[in-house]
Amino acid sequence: MDDDFLLLNPGPVPVRESVLEAMAEPMVSHRSADFEAVYERAQAGVEYVFEQSGVAGGSTADGTALLLNGTATMGMEAAVANLVGPEDHVVALVNGKFGRRFARIAERYSENVTRVDVPWGESIPVSAVAEALTPETRLVTMVHNETSTGLQNPVWAVGDLLADHDAQFAVDGVTSVGGDVFLVDEWNVDVAVTDAQKALETPPGISAVYVTDAVREEFDGESAPFYEDLDWHLRKEESNQTPFTSAVPLFRAMAAAVEAIESEGMDARIDRHHRQARAFRHGFAALGLDRFPEATDHTVLSNTVTAIQLPEQIRGDPADFFAAIDERNVSISGGQAHLGGEIFRVSNMGSLRGDQVVRGVRVVGEALEAVGIETDVEAGVAAASEWVDG
Ligand SMILES: Cc1ncc(COP(=O)(O)O)c(C=O)c1O
Repeated sequence: MDDDFLLLNPGPVPVRESVLEAMAEPMVSHRSADFEAVYERAQAGVEYVFEQSGVAGGSTADGTALLLNGTATMGMEAAVANLVGPEDHVVALVNGKFGRRFARIAERYSENVTRVDVPWGESIPVSAVAEALTPETRLVTMVHNETSTGLQNPVWAVGDLLADHDAQFAVDGVTSVGGDVFLVDEWNVDVAVTDAQKALETPPGISAVYVTDAVREEFDGESAPFYEDLDWHLRKEESNQTPFTSAVPLFRAMAAAVEAIESEGMDARIDRHHRQARAFRHGFAALGLDRFPEATDHTVLSNTVTAIQLPEQIRGDPADFFAAIDERNVSISGGQAHLGGEIFRVSNMGSLRGDQVVRGVRVVGEALEAVGIETDVEAGVAAASEWVDG
């Protein structure tokens, strides 16, 4: 059995050797031609991911990917702060921790935020979004893949609503871009955000924002935070630089990571993520576990993050269960905020091998047995194995 440390948290995810090696190269100036070449590679690769995450052949988006020093929360803030001021109206869709984060950011910059708020794990009714929109709405914020609940929200349906509306659409694609379908153009997305340490398989610290050609006209550089002025970022991007000192090793890591993604190809990559998510779902079901949310309405289960209810016997006090997972040299996540003690979550973002996914199921089964919960580990392993290669 493979005893190597296995990181199954919904980010950071394991990174490949070539990415670690890229980070270890001798330092160069962020204003050098060497660095500009790195930026160009990283940006082209990230743009490929944003633009080619469709079914068979990708989307038709016209826009620019910007790389930011700072994680995706900075990208979310940049999206909001460059598009709204205190008087502007925002509709923020919340059914989990990251939807709430987007709403909180919006509330920092606008005095007119309407939240469409449903309990975490439930779908956001598209009809409620339609009711919340007014002719004054300037921005709608939405999370595509809600990492805190393992659900994927219907960005396409909200995008359809916005087709006849002047509002801009800012979408958090942090745990979907790079691992699942994401259609900037077809879904009427204006600004999309993703993080390095999720499906882009890069160490944490930087993020990417995709800005459509249409929305850049709307940016108000004067009122944006100095560091997050997207107009300025767009101007510097023309010379393959960022306005301030770039995180050189992380940009190198990103360049190596996205080139590997491009070699796999987004179609194959998305297909692999779909199969691995099914391996987790079927494996855990065969262990007798229930999923945390049952997706309803237009909301579907995530293909990158699986959330599972902890069995009743350990709900509220799962420390021994998580310790038993740790002892087996595997790392998974618990629930966030009020879901702590209620659920566990695993990720299949990145380039996990099939046997690593199966090991995740086995280890959860063994940990359940270790805390006295009867389960059929081999049934879990068999069910998961049917969905993965090798
Ligand atoms: C859906 C989603 N949005 C945003 C973030 C951004 O988090 P951070 O800025 O801490 O990387 C995360 C991180 O887990 C996430 O899962």
